[in-house]
Amino acid sequence: AKITYIEHDGTEHTIEVANGITLMEAAVKASIPGIDGDCGGACACATCMVYVPDEWKPKLPEVETMEETMLDFCEHTEANSRLSCQLVASDELDGIRLQMPESQH
Ligand code: FES
Repeated sequence: AKITYIEHDGTEHTIEVANGITLMEAAVKASIPGIDGDCGGACACATCMVYVPDEWKPKLPEVETMEETMLDFCEHTEANSRLSCQLVASDELDGIRLQMPESQH
């Protein structure tokens, strides 16, 4: 799937992500600034947060309790925040545009 990551300053990075890979892993591998993924995808660090445009919400899995708890801790959390380590690339997500917060801390 083609995934676009948009930095806080508007810089866009579009990469091809193989199905089954998390959107955090893909960003870290491609050295996209703005996604740290410190905990390696265990839903325990919230440094992989992204903002998902509303029109994509129906295509994403529900927010799990763990993810919700982590997002609660994070100061940049908005209603459309998701942890990108909990989002897995699939054909459904082709073309999705993820906005990244100003910082992951
Ligand atoms: Fe740590 Fe997503 S990589 S919560």
